[in-house]
Amino acid sequence: MAGADADGEGVLILAIETSCDETAAALVTDAGSVLSSVVSSQAGLHARYGGVVPEIASRRHLELVLPVVREALERADTSLGGVERVAVTQGPGLVGALLVGLSTAKAIAWAGGRPLVPVDHLEGHIAALYLEPDPLDPPFLCLLASGGHTLLLAVRERGASERLGTTLDDAAGEAFDKGARVLGLGYPGGAEIDRLAGDGDAEAFAFPVARVPGLDFSFSGLKTALLYTVRDLGERETERRRADLAASYQHAIVRALVARIREGVERTGLDRVAVVGGVAANSALREALPEARFAPFDLCTDNAAMIASAARFGGAIPFPNYLGLDAYASIS
Ligand code: KG4
Ligand code: ZN
Repeated sequence: MAGADADGEGVLILAIETSCDETAAALVTDAGSVLSSVVSSQAGLHARYGGVVPEIASRRHLELVLPVVREALERADTSLGGVERVAVTQGPGLVGALLVGLSTAKAIAWAGGRPLVPVDHLEGHIAALYLEPDPLDPPFLCLLASGGHTLLLAVRERGASERLGTTLDDAAGEAFDKGARVLGLGYPGGAEIDRLAGDGDAEAFAFPVARVPGLDFSFSGLKTALLYTVRDLGERETERRRADLAASYQHAIVRALVARIREGVERTGLDRVAVVGGVAANSALREALPEARFAPFDLCTDNAAMIASAARFGGAIPFPNYLGLDAYASIS
């Protein structure tokens, strides 16, 4: 048998992730070493619509999933024969998109008599922290901030977390994306705002973030505040001050996230903080939380290595009991 086993590194896991607009596959050992992680982003395809178009995403996943799996196998210098377990994102996400990954994973698992591990996408984001070379051990307080979710979690053991807070409206990544659209930047907007903000003054504009009770978040008012500011400034002045607007807007989101994290630390007594999800790639957030552990930069946005990582901690369904498995759209 090829691959990791031969090197004494343990069982090889092939993972597939197709929950949104990234088609991803990865080969990870049971011990948490990433042998390959391939991500094919469809962002360019959806950019002209300003967001992900589910039907287009599903079709593109269908075209990309096998080439991406093949590429992941090649980069890991192995073949399907070396894969002992198949992992796949089951939800939450776009159901049509998820089904492409799920069907592919079922087929690969079934054809080789292998077990299949259905993985929750959000557990996957957290499991990015458990990979080599510097795995983090629970307990810790975790902010999961992505395009679809903003969750404050108490992670007391691997695979088990308690939800302390969530967003009441937009997710943090969604706030970045919507703000970027107001500023006439590309999709997805988080990285664009991050880049532009580097040239701007974060104190130039004061954007208020709603204070909601408990440890929840609310970002929808922020986007409206930006919209009004841009309207008042007019086109030419907005153009001239775009970097200041981006920096101030980003600052407001970061401040809100950091404030909640600090409150979470106080309430739970968990003094170690981790940040995962696409927004964890944000440079201002990383700067504002120097003591926190961030998921490795490449594993913040959607990828399959994190899905394989989560699959290391249980949930395997033995051959062939997984054929009826369905995808789910929303958080359980
Ligand atoms: O985790 P992810 O890839 O997909 C979901 O599960 O939603 O997160 C994508 C989100 C998008 O909203 C994107 O704008 C945001 O992460 N994002 C960023 C940055 N890079 C990606 N937000 C802020 N700063 C960044 N550098
Ligand atoms: Zn994600």
